Amino acid sequence: MTYKLLFVCLGNICRSPSAENIMNHLIKEANLTDKIICDSAGTSAYHIGSPPDRRMSAAAMQKGIELVGKARKFQAADFERFNLILAMDRENYRDILYSDRQCQYEDKVKMMCSFATQYSEQEVPDPYYGGEAGFNYVIDLLLDSCDGLLDYIVKNQL
Ligand code: 4NP
Repeated sequence: MTYKLLFVCLGNICRSPSAENIMNHLIKEANLTDKIICDSAGTSAYHIGSPPDRRMSAAAMQKGIELVGKARKFQAADFERFNLILAMDRENYRDILYSDRQCQYEDKVKMMCSFATQYSEQEVPDPYYGGEAGFNYVIDLLLDSCDGLLDYIVKNQL
């Protein structure tokens, strides 16, 4: 059985594709590609079909991580398709659970930063309207959170 992760932000062009690709990078390093599968989605329809934001890709590339993917919108069917859904911020968390009409899936949805060990941040800040530093910060925060997330999955879910 494979453990399936879905990373969710607003646009699915900055934070969640970064989380997905960083996590895939760590999964490869840990030789767990046959055990854990990652995807990402956005709560909005703004950027459906778009590749990751080029400013986000540049920041990821500085850490040796290439961002690949095409934005799609989160859908209620994702609750059944994935084992764990990671929200980047509180608004994403609320919007994801808004699709859970019968309140069945709350246990599957967690805040990404709850897995961070080096940062006390509660949310991955939206970098879209800011400068380069914001994008670099998102990558650092996600590298730490993905590390903690992988640790959690290896210890508790595989
Ligand atoms: P993301 O960033 O949610 O991390 O992909 C954003 C992308 C686009 C917009 C906002 C945030 N937007 O307003 O278009």
